[in-house]
Amino acid sequence: MQVFRSIFSRLMTTYIVVIVISLIVLSLLFSQLFQNFYLTERKNELVKAGRRINNIMLKYRQGQMSREEVGFMIRGIDRSLNAEIWLVDPTGLVYLDSRPGDEKWFVSHLEPEDMKQVLAADVVTRTGFFGNRFEVAVISVGVPLFLDNKVAGAIFLHSPIYGIHGTLRQVYRLIFIAAFITCIFAIIIAYYMSQRISKPLQQMSKVAIEMASGKFDKKVNVREKDEIGQLALSFNFMAQELGQLENMRREFIANVSHELRSPLTSIKGFIQGILDGIISGDDQKRYLKIVSEETNRLNRLINDLLNLAWIESGKIELNYQKVELNAFLRNIIVKFMPRIEEKGLTIRLDAEVERCIVNTDPDRLEQILVNLVDNAIKFTPPGKSIILESQDAGSKAVVRVMDQGVGIPEEQLQKIWERFSKVDKARTRSKGGTGLGLAIVKKLIEVMGETIEVTSTEGRGTEFTFTLAKAEE
Ligand SMILES: Nc1ncnc2c1ncn2[C@@H]1O[C@H](COP(=O)(O)OP(=O)(O)OP(=O)(O)O)[C@@H](O)[C@H]1O
Ligand SMILES: [Mg+2]
Repeated sequence: MQVFRSIFSRLMTTYIVVIVISLIVLSLLFSQLFQNFYLTERKNELVKAGRRINNIMLKYRQGQMSREEVGFMIRGIDRSLNAEIWLVDPTGLVYLDSRPGDEKWFVSHLEPEDMKQVLAADVVTRTGFFGNRFEVAVISVGVPLFLDNKVAGAIFLHSPIYGIHGTLRQVYRLIFIAAFITCIFAIIIAYYMSQRISKPLQQMSKVAIEMASGKFDKKVNVREKDEIGQLALSFNFMAQELGQLENMRREFIANVSHELRSPLTSIKGFIQGILDGIISGDDQKRYLKIVSEETNRLNRLINDLLNLAWIESGKIELNYQKVELNAFLRNIIVKFMPRIEEKGLTIRLDAEVERCIVNTDPDRLEQILVNLVDNAIKFTPPGKSIILESQDAGSKAVVRVMDQGVGIPEEQLQKIWERFSKVDKARTRSKGGTGLGLAIVKKLIEVMGETIEVTSTEGRGTEFTFTLAKAEE
């Protein structure tokens, strides 16, 4: 739940911060826009009213209206617009007010700045308290008073702008309600999202704990294709790999124990027989020879295992040297000659080119060839041939070890590289193999950065092909 809580709260904080910031920005922009709009509208209205008053004044001047009628109409306009109306003479003195109670302003002149603008036949717009003459903020509009095609003063209209605040307050309330609803949605979404994130994580930690106790069969369910989904997939993959590794380890231990037990059992049996006097005289020597062979076998097994572990640990250091491949192969043949002859086989080297210099570790190359030729001899019946082949293939040299032996069944072909793999357990046992030879070969080829391949036909023969780096002469 810890994971969930913190993911949830983090998402929530992010959402709410984003919501609040965007709403504040929105409110500011909106109120600005709204105020501009409102004031422009109001101004246009007041200017229009000003022109109407101008007409009334014209009629009054022409004697079509009495002074009372003028006062009556101006007060009517004041009421309908909620705007205090002043008539001002060219010097800036107010000589008529639609609200007679305010006639105290009659004595003071209006600001020369404003008057100058109006007398130049321009419209003046101001917002505020009009030089402290009002107690509430007003929008003031001054329009020139035209009489006989001359500017004969000004008409000022002042309308309070408190109406706008009421409207804005309503807008803010709407925004606040919207924010509230959005926050509720944010909570729901954050909850859902955090669940989607935290569920696989929780599952992974559960599976990880099971893995720690050796159970590798549990999996994390993944539906999402996002980063968490990918993590879960990688996690499952890791679990599977670890499971395989664990299986391999168990199998390996079982194999090693098995390989150790059979020679030890026979050694123990023969020695016990000799000690108990059951095996006597001449037989003793014969059985001790078997015991000696079995100890050799054990020795080989242990050496091979240590060798493999050493290569796999990466501690092996390759000692690269320039080696003439054909001479090297001939040398190998010479070393195996006694066994070849003893089994009634023939062996030869097919060299494509006279000289082929390779850059390799001679000890490791010998180890590889000894294993391959040893196999070829073991699995080829008397009378048949073994052929070593060397080839020049551009930047690489290719070595082939071919025999006319029993071959390897198709389905076993890829398994022979595994440790303790033997195609025919019983038959190989009699030949003293443990199934580590090719595993060592493969590992050596890999650390040298080369490749090895095998093709085989059952009953016809087997062919191992590997590459070596060519050296510049
Ligand atoms: N040339 C070959 N012809 C037929 N089968 C082969 C040949 N080389 C290898 N195999 C098969 O592959 C198996 C694995 O070979 P590998 O060299 O790893 O083990 P091994 O020879 O049985 O034992 P070790 O090499 O440890 O003494 C052999 O047991 C054999 O069944
Ligand atoms: Mg072998």
